[in-house]
Amino acid sequence: MVTTYTYQTSEKVIRLVQVTDPHLFKDEKGELLGINTLASFNQVLTEIRQSKFDYDFVLATGDLVQDSSDEGYLRFCTSVKSLKKMVFWIPGNHDFQPKMFDILNQEHGNISPLKHILLGKYWQILMLDSQVFGVPYGQLGQYQIDWLQSKLRDYPERYSLIVLHHHILSTNSAWLDQHNLRNSFDLAYVLGKSSKVKGIVYGHIHQAVDSQWQGYKIMATPSTCVQFRPDSNNFALDIVQPGWREIELHDDGRIETRVKRIQHASFLPNMLSEGY
Ligand SMILES: [Fe+2]
Repeated sequence: MVTTYTYQTSEKVIRLVQVTDPHLFKDEKGELLGINTLASFNQVLTEIRQSKFDYDFVLATGDLVQDSSDEGYLRFCTSVKSLKKMVFWIPGNHDFQPKMFDILNQEHGNISPLKHILLGKYWQILMLDSQVFGVPYGQLGQYQIDWLQSKLRDYPERYSLIVLHHHILSTNSAWLDQHNLRNSFDLAYVLGKSSKVKGIVYGHIHQAVDSQWQGYKIMATPSTCVQFRPDSNNFALDIVQPGWREIELHDDGRIETRVKRIQHASFLPNMLSEGY
């Protein structure tokens, strides 16, 4: 059984696009806190297609569907098909994994179920499942920890990018930080055994973060729908626009990255919403 996606290239830079937390619904008019999530997701994808960034792959980092519906997952598949690039995905706290696996693993042509990606000669991507069924916080189970450890051990010469849904760094928002990755200590312990881990990218917090943790580059990315206001202890929405992230993996281990937000449409949430 093939468990690794191998991308052969002699390019010195591998380029990725991350989209996260689309929260699609069964109903194409479905809204999350006042934003039509299918419309905002499709606008993000449209602007990615219109951008000059010549990327190789897409990483979709969870909360793809809000209401566990077949239709939501099928809408995700239909929408990302327009990018004409291979899409790799992980679950978020809102995803219903049996259905997600079932539908995304059907033959869509450009959606891969694989979680281990070898890119050219210099990099690997490790996509982790941090979902704990039925709760919003995250945890890496023993299988995930062991899997991560084995891949880092098996490819010691490669730089690694770690991808998961839940956040590691505090957002200075108590309401959101209670839903963080609970065992980041275990993650740090495993990553610490390799000297080649360069970055960690996640979604979940619906806001942009570019920071450092334990010497790793930390990248959090705006949702393709609703945005949460940073540094707010109580639930609060932000009026900044939906977005995505560009990531460039260089052959010397450097990561260059930037967050992009939509420019050609405007999505405003219901600012009177009191919870999520
Ligand atoms: Fe989300």
